[in-house]
Amino acid sequence: MAKALLLLCCLLAAVSRAAARLSNETYFVNSAFCKMPYVDPFTADVLDAIAVNKFAKCRDDKDIVIAEYDFELNAYRLRIREEEAMSWFKVNTTLECKYAKIARGGSSGSPDNTFRVVYRRTLPQDYIVPPEVQYMLVQCSVVNGKEKRIVQTDGIAFVQDYEERSSEEHLEELAEEPKPSVIIFGIDSMSRINLRRTMHRTFRYVQQAGWYTLQGLNKVGDNTLPNLLAMLTGYSLEDVAAICDVQEQGCFDQLPFIWKRFKLNNYTTAMAEDCMDISTFNYLKPGFAKQPVDYYLRPLMVAMEKSFQPNPFYDEKTCVGRHLSFAYVWDFAKQFIQRFIRTSRPMFGLFWTNSFTHNKFDKSIALDELFVEYFKQFESNGLFNRSVVILTSDHGMRTGVLRRIPTGYLEERMPMFYIHLPPWFRRRYRRLVANLAKNRNRLSSTFDIYMTLQHLLQLQSTTNADIQPNSATCPSCQSLFFPLPINRTCSEAGITEKWCTCHPTATVTTEPYALKMSRAVVQHMNDELVERNLTDLCANYTLVGVTYLDYKIAFSSNLTDDTSQYYVIQFATQPNAAMFEVTFSWNNRTAAVNMNIQEISRLNFYGHDAKCINDPIAKKYCICKNAIRTTTKTPKTTTAGI
Ligand SMILES: *[C@@H]1O[C@H](CO)[C@@H](O)[C@H](O)[C@H]1NC(C)=O
Ligand SMILES: *[C@@H]1O[C@H](CO)[C@@H](O)[C@H](O)[C@H]1NC(C)=O
Ligand SMILES: *[C@@H]1O[C@H](CO)[C@@H](O)[C@H](O)[C@H]1NC(C)=O
Ligand SMILES: *[C@@H]1O[C@H](CO)[C@@H](O)[C@H](O)[C@H]1NC(C)=O
Ligand SMILES: *[C@@H]1O[C@H](CO)[C@@H](O)[C@H](O)[C@H]1NC(C)=O
Ligand SMILES: *[C@@H]1O[C@H](CO)[C@@H](O)[C@H](O)[C@H]1NC(C)=O
Ligand SMILES: *[C@@H]1O[C@H](CO)[C@@H](O)[C@H](O)[C@H]1NC(C)=O
Ligand SMILES: *[C@@H]1O[C@H](CO)[C@@H](O)[C@H](O)[C@H]1NC(C)=O
Ligand SMILES: *[C@@H]1O[C@H](CO)[C@@H](O)[C@H](O)[C@H]1NC(C)=O
Repeated sequence: MAKALLLLCCLLAAVSRAAARLSNETYFVNSAFCKMPYVDPFTADVLDAIAVNKFAKCRDDKDIVIAEYDFELNAYRLRIREEEAMSWFKVNTTLECKYAKIARGGSSGSPDNTFRVVYRRTLPQDYIVPPEVQYMLVQCSVVNGKEKRIVQTDGIAFVQDYEERSSEEHLEELAEEPKPSVIIFGIDSMSRINLRRTMHRTFRYVQQAGWYTLQGLNKVGDNTLPNLLAMLTGYSLEDVAAICDVQEQGCFDQLPFIWKRFKLNNYTTAMAEDCMDISTFNYLKPGFAKQPVDYYLRPLMVAMEKSFQPNPFYDEKTCVGRHLSFAYVWDFAKQFIQRFIRTSRPMFGLFWTNSFTHNKFDKSIALDELFVEYFKQFESNGLFNRSVVILTSDHGMRTGVLRRIPTGYLEERMPMFYIHLPPWFRRRYRRLVANLAKNRNRLSSTFDIYMTLQHLLQLQSTTNADIQPNSATCPSCQSLFFPLPINRTCSEAGITEKWCTCHPTATVTTEPYALKMSRAVVQHMNDELVERNLTDLCANYTLVGVTYLDYKIAFSSNLTDDTSQYYVIQFATQPNAAMFEVTFSWNNRTAAVNMNIQEISRLNFYGHDAKCINDPIAKKYCICKNAIRTTTKTPKTTTAGI
């Protein structure tokens, strides 16, 4: 309780500080062609909705088996701490630990979603882990004759040497390296507004010297995958289809992921993510056929999620086995960094967490302190002295209460992006760094981040055109180390009208044409169900109310061409009280709606409504006929009963 009060009071203090500091800040970007509004993180409607999330551990007991890296032996040693098992001991009991060597699933089927137990063995004290063991599950039991009780099970990953690595010399001193290591930490669904709102320790951490931010960053696709594809390949999800079908096994392996370029430049690469079924390349997709990077945590996470009982803490995603899902990912990052920070080859790592933030915007309050602790550990490992460190996200909250308040539309579209440049880099590349600082309040997109990562591999470039290849989807996108055009438009940044936050809006909900438009949108959605052969599975929509209809004020002088007039509508339909938001253009002459149902936003959680269908996009809008609830309250809208 005391801790809860403390959190609340800090939050309120942060509110008044923010109010003092930002009273006259009104735009993130304010140019002739982009007026991206500043979003206040601390409005009353959000503060009312915050539940104070206290941090808790998944388990209270301490780990019996711990791994230590012996830098002399160049090997991991496993220590069995019998003293941590004492409370389970009775007369004549002994402790017995075993391990199972885990490997990635075989090449048939779906190797990203399966694992193999290669062998099971007894684990002796001070066991030196053989170099070919990358993951193991361990199990310790107290044994008394025939009686045996399992007291702990856990999963352990090892960042072992690999072939090219083993002969390498450790650096005696920190040479100024021409190629900086690049470590990306991602927090899913975290807008720059919500970072300030719910993670103020982390927010303060990234205000320190050497950190730079982008306040004009706009997302380019709906959920994680399109935004990360833009950042890591320079392609939109639509354009990737020209290479292969991401639903097919092996497609992701063919894409030009940036880590392949880092690898070609002799970087050591790593990737880890939590929550196996919703992870970026695996949510209703087959993932990778071949292991994509040198160090890949996924096989162990899959083995743990499939082998251990769910641990009900907040929700089943937060913990896996004994620990936070998040901690397995960040501990893996820590191992990776500790092992390679002092070697001559640079590192590339992508470490992504979904477990705290995917479903609840305020659960990150509980993550804040731990997150900063990890950053401080990385700091003492020397990470920030040597490497470029990025803290970013894919987008803001896409569903739930935060999304339904008036600023939810903007917040969803405004991911966070912080980048730390080590002192040697700031000295050597003064001009590039000055450009980055200048870009803080200019319109930028995830495609620019892709170009920036490319630039880090091509630091000899004198202009953006020198950086090759450029983004396939957005050739006008550019490295953030070069100045962005002041008058940049969304389309120049690879951002479609649906996601663009540059246009001021005027609310026209009560205009006489609003009703006509809203009915036309719902009619269009019903027609789409017919066109997509979904009428057997999905119910027709009936409009029950409009929350708002906004008109997007265009900066273009082409006002006579009314197909360039965009509207945003938020409305509720029955059955199942579904809330949608649609961006559409309207032809006044033919009274026709032009919209892309693939881009529709669903504002409430739809897991249950969409169980009958597997297509990730159709899931957003299909209300399964076999999941219709008869007693659903109609959501509150301004104009009820249409
Ligand atoms: C508000 O703007 C004025 C004029 O631009 C500036 O002098 C002042 O410092 C700003 N106040 C705050 C709190 O940022
Ligand atoms: C413990 O082991 C000893 C020696 O085998 C035996 O004599 C004794 O009965 C055992 N005690 C219990 C409580 O099992
Ligand atoms: C990578 O390392 C190899 C072997 O040390 C070297 O021959 C090659 O030039 C390096 N490549 C790059 C791009 O630095
Ligand atoms: C990082 O650099 C700072 C300033 O040069 C130094 O004080 C600190 O000890 C370094 N930290 C590590 C872990 O090398
Ligand atoms: C931006 O656009 C405005 C209005 O069209 C124009 O006055 C200004 O010169 C432009 N600025 C730049 C840097 O192009
Ligand atoms: C559902 O909508 C389609 C397209 O508007 C229409 O043809 C069909 O009759 C509707 N079905 C029902 C059961 O209302
Ligand atoms: C819908 O079904 C019809 C008839 O079975 C078929 O010709 C058409 O290609 C299908 N459309 C889609 C989008 O699957
Ligand atoms: C106006 O429309 C024309 C033709 O559609 C197009 O080429 C031009 O780029 C548009 N201008 C602006 C400022 O959007
Ligand atoms: C459509 O055209 C009519 C007649 O010209 C006009 O009164 C109405 O305001 C227009 N509606 C919109 C949304 O532009």
